[in-house]
Amino acid sequence: MERTKIKAALASESPSDAICIKGWVRTRRDAKDFSFLEINDGSCLAGIQVVADSAAEGFGLVRDMGTGAAVAVSGALIASPGKGQKWEIRATRLELIGAADPETYPLQKKRHSDEFLRQIAHLRPRTNKYGALFRIRSSLSLAIHDFFAARGFVYLHTPILTGSDCEGAGELFRVTAQAPCSPGTGGAGDFFGKPAYLTVSGQLAAEPFALALGDVYTFGPTFRAEKSDTPRHAAEFWMVEPEMAFADLTDDMDMAEAFLKHLAAHALTACKDDLELFARFVDTTVLATLETFLAKPFARLPYAEAIDILRASGKNFEYPVSFGLDLQTEHERHLAEVHVKGPVLVYDYPKDIKAFYMRQNDDGKTVAAMDLLVPRVGELIGGSAREERLDVLTARITELSLPLEAYGWYLDTRRFGSAPHAGFGLGFERLLMMITGVTNIRDVIAYPRAYNQLEF
Ligand code: 4AD
Ligand code: MG
Repeated sequence: MERTKIKAALASESPSDAICIKGWVRTRRDAKDFSFLEINDGSCLAGIQVVADSAAEGFGLVRDMGTGAAVAVSGALIASPGKGQKWEIRATRLELIGAADPETYPLQKKRHSDEFLRQIAHLRPRTNKYGALFRIRSSLSLAIHDFFAARGFVYLHTPILTGSDCEGAGELFRVTAQAPCSPGTGGAGDFFGKPAYLTVSGQLAAEPFALALGDVYTFGPTFRAEKSDTPRHAAEFWMVEPEMAFADLTDDMDMAEAFLKHLAAHALTACKDDLELFARFVDTTVLATLETFLAKPFARLPYAEAIDILRASGKNFEYPVSFGLDLQTEHERHLAEVHVKGPVLVYDYPKDIKAFYMRQNDDGKTVAAMDLLVPRVGELIGGSAREERLDVLTARITELSLPLEAYGWYLDTRRFGSAPHAGFGLGFERLLMMITGVTNIRDVIAYPRAYNQLEF
């Protein structure tokens, strides 16, 4: 018999004489002549209850169908007399597909700590919380593509292996071949004949495509060897990076705002059931926070004004606040959570704390950069107008002692048909943290890679 996903079975309009579901046992309760099994197959948060008695074929093995076992159940879909569920299955046939030894299967209890589950990242998607999280993650990924497709953006795949440090921050992982390479191809293991790295951002590779295709975006893994063991930094994370030709900083901020509103609205509607789990068990304010995102335009503050606000706040911050210093997470969260009580776009940062490619403002001190700061997370998006003037950009690269030769290809875009353009990067895991209320980035990515952490 063809398998029905539990989500479809639970959404059924009418009973059915013959249905087959396959999934993993969450719980089993035994009475004298019959058993109740709750089966989950990952298609939705809810499981389906199965009632089986000795009339069911395969009932002899029911006591081996413990928590974690993979099973197939055929039977009738009938109205459930139980509370909180519309349908249940009266089994006519049970099959044990894969047993799970109750002595050693780690997920016996209803609730485990996040720390414990992080050690078994390969099994945690079998819990309600992580199942919900990874369904939300999948749904939001698709919503990202929908957003850009509806606006005529071209989806671009930029390389993971790169020869340049996009952000110029020196947080690169270097890549070598394990076996020594033949003479003439560089040092031992130097496969490309020169140093290669894992990309920190697809931006520099995307800019030339924006200056050809108009509007493009990338969505892929990025890597940073930041030795910050914080709950907001991962060594491998996913970034969404739109890049738009003929756009300035205001266009960039408008796009970031529309993008985030789209994702918040999507989470509230398409991910409702899964999100409610987080509202109940993780952070009771998650739904209200998302609703405030949709309620009004995002606040916008020049960096200089943000500094004044922080200094006047009377709060004792751990890190100093003054014009010219970067904002730390505590400052970002104060602005978003206390001052604005919602998302805030901070723009026109001092040029010395930002990347070389950002467009210089006429004041000689600041660049047309913007960060979107949100409650719980702080910086969610970083972006800017790009310096499109060849002479200004060349001078900046030289001033920062960056290797001008390495940027020859990049400068070509400013040599031939240069045009104002702008873009931003959104950290996808930080978005998930903001949406679900999960406070550790390691718990919103399938297999976390962070400082001192690489399992599997
Ligand atoms: O602000 P960042 O460094 O900007 C860039 O990389 C630009 N090239 C993006 C662009 O304009 N196309 O990074 C962008 C976002 C941050 O705002 C943050 O959300 C996320 O990426 N991010 C991290 N997320 C998790 N772990 C890390 N180590 C992160 N570093 C940055
Ligand atoms: Mg940034």
